Amino acid sequence: MNKQIKLLEDKEQLIKQALDICLVKIQEAIAERGQCTIALAGGNTPKPLYESIAAQNLAWDKIHVFWGDERYVAPDHPDSNERMARQAWLDRVPIPPTNIHPMETGAGNPETDASKHDAHLQEFFQVPTGEFPSFDLILLGMGGDGHTASLFPHTDALKVSDRLITVGNKDGQPRLTFTVPLINQARCVIFLVAGADKQTALDQVFAEKADDMNYPSRLIQPQGELQWLLTGVNI
Ligand code: 6PG
Repeated sequence: MNKQIKLLEDKEQLIKQALDICLVKIQEAIAERGQCTIALAGGNTPKPLYESIAAQNLAWDKIHVFWGDERYVAPDHPDSNERMARQAWLDRVPIPPTNIHPMETGAGNPETDASKHDAHLQEFFQVPTGEFPSFDLILLGMGGDGHTASLFPHTDALKVSDRLITVGNKDGQPRLTFTVPLINQARCVIFLVAGADKQTALDQVFAEKADDMNYPSRLIQPQGELQWLLTGVNI
């Protein structure tokens, strides 16, 4: 793993740096493999990044967009990560609808929808059960509790190692999430972390020793590149 930590002056610089890296990774993936597979983070931090990507002139037909996690709500719900990314980016560019791969939440049962998306990824990447595909780029945020995607502290999702997608749990609310091994199979993972409210968790995530179950972002040790883009914190 090749880990880089960059402290940016402010949110605007963080988004610009993230955009630069994303554009390089997208172009590299398309040049080397004919397509780019990118998984998006939810939450608030990445929204301006998605708006910036939407303003680029890219080979949209060669870019496939996934989500690293999803709240278990309808796609038109205000909390939906899919809704945010469509409004900020995907509705603004001529990307083929079949290149957009949301985590469906319509079965009324999170386990069912998790298995369905798991099967979709296996089909898309043509990987047999038990193997993990490599996304070209996975974008992640980190909560003030050290969670990432929907891998929350001391939840069962942290230990799932035989599937691509599992059910996360935030205060009793179900979520769909990439598993740790799926994220760690990525060619490049970028964390976008902004704000002093993340300081305590960040100190623990970067500490030599701390409880991985209490700070799940510690579990993200991808086989490829790991880039932490930070602002509003001390390191
Ligand atoms: C989600 C995200 C989650 C998010 C962090 C940070 O579905 O909410 O995937 O993991 O990245 O909670 O969120 P902010 O960027 O809003 O601080």
